[in-house]
Amino acid sequence: MPTPEDLQVTVRSYHPDDLEVIKRITVEAFSGVSIDEAAELVYGTINGHDWKWRKARHIDADVARDVEGILVVESADGEVVGYITTWQDVDGGIGYIPNLAFVPEWRGRGLGRLLIQMALDRFREAGLSHAKIETLAQNEVGHHLYTSIGFREVARQVHFFADLSDSQSAQDTSESD
Ligand SMILES: CC(C)(COP(=O)(O)OP(=O)(O)OC[C@H]1O[C@@H](n2cnc3c(N)ncnc32)[C@H](O)[C@@H]1OP(=O)(O)O)[C@@H](O)C(=O)NCCC(=O)NCCS
Repeated sequence: MPTPEDLQVTVRSYHPDDLEVIKRITVEAFSGVSIDEAAELVYGTINGHDWKWRKARHIDADVARDVEGILVVESADGEVVGYITTWQDVDGGIGYIPNLAFVPEWRGRGLGRLLIQMALDRFREAGLSHAKIETLAQNEVGHHLYTSIGFREVARQVHFFADLSDSQSAQDTSESD
């Protein structure tokens, strides 16, 4: 397993200054593998917000949930090139990895594997027994990477959206006399 030094990067804790760059990395990286983007392709923007705005808010949620569970990767020249977010359900025994992404030039160098392994080590140190990560069916890198680390597929989920102004979904449920 290569170390951060081997890969010429530093892995460090999250600082509030990282927020905007991490959001930028996220919306760039999740194009094609975002549920909100898929909904937008069907329904267009919702309430004046595009999928990038929605996806970026996932990072706000990750920060609010467990800021110490975020690791950031910096290149030798100090550029933030990727990150992983995590949180721990200690009572339930499961560590969660909601988001993970790199800028394009830094993908495929083993950094995703490294960050996941570091997250799993933190989960073990916290006494957790299992870890969970999700990916869309079309994310081939995700499938390959996660299963090669030891994650096993246990379920597939289907995401539905409805337009509430649509006559089919806007069925009148009020009681009539
Ligand atoms: C997914 C992501 C975080 C992985 O990070 P990474 O640093 O690129 O990953 P690594 O280099 O550690 O490993 C990638 C693995 O996928 C393999 N891979 C690359 N392209 C692939 C493809 N098209 N199909 C299958 N496997 C592929 C690589 O060979 C490597 O496997 P190996 O170590 O067995 O050779 C990164 O690619 C990324 O930011 N992607 C866009 C955002 C995203 O999809 N995030 C995850 C959402 S669940």
